[in-house]
Amino acid sequence: AAAQTKIDIHTDKPIGTIQPEIYGQFLEHVGTQVYDGIWVGHESDIPNTDGIRNDVFEALSVLDIPVIRWPGGCYADLYHWKDGIGAQSERKKRVNMAWGGTAEPNGFGTHEFFNFAEKLGAKTYLNVNLASGTVNEASDWLEYITFDGESDLANLRRTNGRDKPWTIDYLSIGNETWGCGGHMRATAYADQYAQWATILKTGGEQPTRIISGSHQDNIDYSAEILTHPNMSDLSEGISLHYYTLPTDDWDDKGAALGFSELEWASTIKNTLKMEAAVSDFLKVLDASQVDGDFGLYVDEWGMWVNTEDGDPSLHQQNTIRDGVVAALNLNLFHDHADRIAMTNIAQMVNVLQAMILTDGPEMVLTPTYYVYKMYRPFQGAESYAVSMNSPIYEKEGIAFDALSVSAAHNENGDIVIALVNADPSTSHDIEIPVVGDVTITGQQLYGAELDAHNSFEEPDAIQPKSLKLKAKGGDVDLTLPARSVTVLTLEKH
Ligand code: AHR
Repeated sequence: AAAQTKIDIHTDKPIGTIQPEIYGQFLEHVGTQVYDGIWVGHESDIPNTDGIRNDVFEALSVLDIPVIRWPGGCYADLYHWKDGIGAQSERKKRVNMAWGGTAEPNGFGTHEFFNFAEKLGAKTYLNVNLASGTVNEASDWLEYITFDGESDLANLRRTNGRDKPWTIDYLSIGNETWGCGGHMRATAYADQYAQWATILKTGGEQPTRIISGSHQDNIDYSAEILTHPNMSDLSEGISLHYYTLPTDDWDDKGAALGFSELEWASTIKNTLKMEAAVSDFLKVLDASQVDGDFGLYVDEWGMWVNTEDGDPSLHQQNTIRDGVVAALNLNLFHDHADRIAMTNIAQMVNVLQAMILTDGPEMVLTPTYYVYKMYRPFQGAESYAVSMNSPIYEKEGIAFDALSVSAAHNENGDIVIALVNADPSTSHDIEIPVVGDVTITGQQLYGAELDAHNSFEEPDAIQPKSLKLKAKGGDVDLTLPARSVTVLTLEKH
């Protein structure tokens, strides 16, 4: 039998507080995410409250979502906020040119988003339209949303049903400005960013301002933006986008279902490259003018696979592979808890690596949803350094550490440990030394096949099962099945 892997948790080496915002979500107008997935309108037969479907809202409430980024993404640079306010019957019918020229009825606009976030207890992250809007339009939007006093725009908000202002916690000026956000050179964007950041103000407390930065392969773009002499006064953070493709080919990313073991392995290998992307980016920040509080915002990440016939809805199935990819990334973010201020998985419902899939009145929770549910105790916990000699998975030239572990101390004084076995075919035994009597409770998500998933026909095919163990001094021993994510809480007596 293979040797047990010993896992040492270094409670004397705290890394930092895991910002709850690391568990952030991303809500863009794409495919059936907003319309059907969240917003069905007041007249729908699907049970809803103020137009938001009840089943999806209830499922999302369980996740303690800390923050939601809206309205895009690429769509943010086509969005004109005045199209989405006022009586539903008078909303502008537009076309979503960012995502396949689909209908954009504007039923879900500013009021719907801010009320939705408020009811979920989530902070708000607004992405303003830099590429096809004006600074004046954005400035008016901020006034409409946040101004408490007398002004025509604040009064318009009141007429439209909201007396109190809402809060914009985070603000991004532009999105992927190297691509769909305008194909700008870094210097051109830096100048425009600086101009907008100078003008844009909210009523009340100012939001954290985030520069739209790099994707994984153009870190230099961010380095150049940060050479603008005023950036440290005009911004509090910068973003990184990193998508995991099973292959390395944007034209043939790989399939959501029915993939081979080798494609599982390349997916894991590509996921683990997030570590280099984050570390390289942090080096860029260290070498720039910004100070230690300046945050890294991984405000888009997740699995991106082929959609049928180039369908622009970005709808994809979600398997245990997605669950493992989510957990590997979250562990990695915990390892950088001192520097990562927020991350937003792409995306929340029906788009890319979604928490939830819907079809008409039906709803399915994905393996990624369950990982987010299991990881809730990590929000706000203190991350610790962990060491182990992970067994290595190796096949046909692809090799990676099969195990990933993260440990933290939560507000109840318990130690929480997340263990991922990313090996597609082999289980691994672990031991965790503990002192004194401990009761261990936990949840384990395991895929019986490489592409185990929930469907509308079989909505509960994959779900976490509960674990309960005891240790009296010595070790906690556990077998981690291939393709599994386990979260344990160690309670001392
Ligand atoms: O998440 C889908 C898209 O990916 C976003 O709109 C864009 O910012 C990125 O390219």
